[in-house]
Amino acid sequence: MAWPGHAAWAVLAGVLLLAAGAAAQSSSCVSATFQGGRAFQQCNALPVLGASLHWTYHAANGTADVAFRAPQQSGGWVAWGINTRGTTMPGSSVFIASQDASGAVSVTTTVLESVSPSLTNGSLSFDVLAPPAADYAAGVYTIFATIALPNNSTTQNTVWQAGPGNTGSIAPHSTSGANVQSMQRLDFMSGQSTGASNSRLHRRNIHGILNGVSWGILIPLGAMIARYLRVFEAADPAWFYLHITCQLSGYVLGVAGWALGLKLGSESKGVTYGAHRNIGIAIFCLATLQVFALLLRPDKKNKYRFYWNIYHHSVGYSAIVLAAVNIFKGLDILKPASGWKKSYIAILATLAAVALLLEAITWVVVLRRKKSAKQPHGGAANGNGWQHQQGA
Ligand SMILES: *[C@@H]1O[C@H](CO)[C@@H](O)[C@H](O)[C@H]1NC(C)=O
Ligand SMILES: *[C@@H]1O[C@H](CO)[C@@H](O)[C@H](O)[C@H]1NC(C)=O
Ligand SMILES: *[C@@H]1O[C@H](CO)[C@@H](O)[C@H](O)[C@H]1NC(C)=O
Ligand SMILES: *[C@@H]1O[C@H](CO)[C@@H](O)[C@H](O)[C@H]1NC(C)=O
Repeated sequence: MAWPGHAAWAVLAGVLLLAAGAAAQSSSCVSATFQGGRAFQQCNALPVLGASLHWTYHAANGTADVAFRAPQQSGGWVAWGINTRGTTMPGSSVFIASQDASGAVSVTTTVLESVSPSLTNGSLSFDVLAPPAADYAAGVYTIFATIALPNNSTTQNTVWQAGPGNTGSIAPHSTSGANVQSMQRLDFMSGQSTGASNSRLHRRNIHGILNGVSWGILIPLGAMIARYLRVFEAADPAWFYLHITCQLSGYVLGVAGWALGLKLGSESKGVTYGAHRNIGIAIFCLATLQVFALLLRPDKKNKYRFYWNIYHHSVGYSAIVLAAVNIFKGLDILKPASGWKKSYIAILATLAAVALLLEAITWVVVLRRKKSAKQPHGGAANGNGWQHQQGA
């Protein structure tokens, strides 16, 4: 298949892009200049939203002068803050810079009490030692603040965000991709940062890979093996064991990925992906039904075997179709480099093309076999094709 080559190119391109982006960001981070001749001793290019944080930490009194810089279309808003209660958005004390219709930039300070807060100007959960300020120039916002680091601790959970707006109103930001990865634990003394969201992002990626490989590749492959391999007498009963191996390993991996997805969903208090979650649960139920149906499978001479086959096929195909839909939904949530979606589309197209080809071959084989056997009953015309002639 073309997949390993494609993946290698996608990975290489991704690495080069990231490297170029990181280089561009870190150089703009160090060489940044600020309005009013302000200067800062340290800076970090933040991993998402093209943002950077510049600061000077005063060890003598546990305060920091901070400048947060992020690009945004005019009319939109950006925000930076510290969460003293955890690593999520609710609980964060934030500075929000936005513009009114005349383009004047103002800063609102507020503690976000929920994921859809009322943005009333109020006091934060730490001391703000000078009135915050902000400017907007060349498509980039900069927020200036002087704060007493909460609890006099140099390490803080920092959060940042950017979103759209329309002449003065602050509209909700996107709830997927970069906009849910904008958190970092930062040591204002050393400048070291660890992504508070990294382990979560990492687990989201594992969830995506497990489910993509299991529901997206192994299980359709297993279904194709059952449908197309068993038409060849020589492949009997090998096809059955291959089918079972594919489906069971797909099921085990898929359930692991599914459970991780449920865990991620339960941890994500504010942002929920209802459709993705419900389709995931439906797929799990259908697949579990398939595993149990195996135990109830009537003997192939049994008159109920025909109905069992119809049931087995319809449940199986439904699960496969739902899985493809949900993988696309998951890709839209995770928003990985576009190579992943393209790779998945390439895999789907390859599977579909192979299935189509094998479908044609199978019908030719079955019809020819029927002709030579001159059997008037059964056969492809009943929609179950060659079932009457194979074992296992
Ligand atoms: C904290 O210390 C810095 C540098 O020593 C000083 O410039 C600043 O005014 C101090 N802030 C407060 C609130 O004392
Ligand atoms: C914070 O800690 C530093 C030393 O670690 C100390 O000098 C300073 O007074 C403390 N500030 C506050 C507000 O407690
Ligand atoms: C928020 O309040 C501060 C001081 O109380 C003020 O300087 C600032 O302009 C206010 N911001 C907005 C957006 O009203
Ligand atoms: C403040 O620091 C103390 C000791 O380091 C810690 O026990 C406490 O939980 C901290 N409080 C907050 C609000 O972070």
